[in-house]
Amino acid sequence: MRVLIAGSGAREHALAWACTQGHDDVEVTCAPGNGGTASFAQNVPVAADDPDGIVRTARDLDVQLVVVGPDAALAAGVADACAAANIAVFGPTAAAARIESSKTFAKRLMDSAGIPTARWCSGRSANRAALQEFVEDLGGQCVVKADGLALGKGVTVCGSPDEARAAIAACLDEQRFGSAGSQVIVEERLRGPEITVLALSDGSNIRVLPVARDYKRIGDGDTGPNTGGMGAVTPPPGAAATPPATAPTSLLADIERDVLRPCVDALAAAGTPFAGCLYAQLMLTADGPRVVEFNARFGDPEAQVVLPVLNADVLALLHDCAHGTLAPGRVYPAGQPAAVGVVLAAAGYPGPPRRGDAITGLQQLDPSILAFHAGTRREPDGTLRTDGGRVLTLVARGAAREVARDRVYACVPEVHFEGMHYRTDIGRD
Ligand code: AMP
Ligand code: GLY
Repeated sequence: MRVLIAGSGAREHALAWACTQGHDDVEVTCAPGNGGTASFAQNVPVAADDPDGIVRTARDLDVQLVVVGPDAALAAGVADACAAANIAVFGPTAAAARIESSKTFAKRLMDSAGIPTARWCSGRSANRAALQEFVEDLGGQCVVKADGLALGKGVTVCGSPDEARAAIAACLDEQRFGSAGSQVIVEERLRGPEITVLALSDGSNIRVLPVARDYKRIGDGDTGPNTGGMGAVTPPPGAAATPPATAPTSLLADIERDVLRPCVDALAAAGTPFAGCLYAQLMLTADGPRVVEFNARFGDPEAQVVLPVLNADVLALLHDCAHGTLAPGRVYPAGQPAAVGVVLAAAGYPGPPRRGDAITGLQQLDPSILAFHAGTRREPDGTLRTDGGRVLTLVARGAAREVARDRVYACVPEVHFEGMHYRTDIGRD
């Protein structure tokens, strides 16, 4: 079987790796891939968000399944183009991916389907007075968001009306997020621990994966600016791992019934069925779980910890989603149900990163450690160099979170590149 993975991050490296587990006969191509995927897959210089390029590559290589990683590729219609060309694809159409690419669309769908989420108000420049009134109603305890895709940077958590006013002005007046911020959402500010729940769907059935948590801020103790994600853990502190033999935790059962099922049903009823990975970010508030946002793809870095613990044939699951043949139920973690992933970032990140520093130490790592590459490239002479902000995700598995955490942090200092930095508290309670 030949599989084409669209994307170049550590999530796509993890997907490519997962597709080869238990399959000697799978050939993986990555578009465009990175220095890590180059070691076991074929990299082709095609952008993930180029629908024509992906279809052409899939045809040329006689690919049986295209797996789309990034949100921008989904919003650009890569899945639509594959479907139109009769190529099986894991990933929703651009219409179904609006659950991520338009926050207003997602909020409307949640309200009409009765999915619990923060109260909200959305508008453009012309409705600024309504936005401002909602901010006052909330006493300034609100979150201001650019409506469109803003690389995870379009969100400002506010503690006063002045902060909210400035955040609205950043979108509407200063156009800091370009067209993604020409429409703004103001939400009630929720409080509580956050979790990520991923579910595979074929458009009608769903399979819920083990729960995870990502760490979005750059600094230990959740300080400093937001990033694409500095690490992830499964299961998160406070949410027990679910061994195959025991009953499902009621938290996941509730989230499946109240959040994931109604979302998939609403998208199907609207004529835009969702086939791919539905990502629910939830806040566990005193009043129960509330959706912070939906994404239309695997999370990065959540994929790097969730995929390695699955007791399942990942390629078969992705194939079933693409073909409408997914069996309902759960996907449970395997014998080592916990995993901790630490992102090693380049000098300058989350600002513009420095590129081109030589990376050493990966060859000597304990073979049980998974090193998923993101911003790396392999030179013709074999030297591996940094080539982006998030350079690598190192992942260790273990019988318990603490074991996985100790294992991964024991290995981090063995890897070196100039300016490397990382969080030291991933997976801590
Ligand atoms: P998002 O890009 O929507 O995932 O938001 C980024 C981060 O902002 C989330 O991980 C939350 O920590 C925070 N956030 C977003 N929406 C809310 C909300 N309604 N209440 C509190 N925090 C929020
Ligand atoms: N980990 C957050 C995201 O993938 O959007």
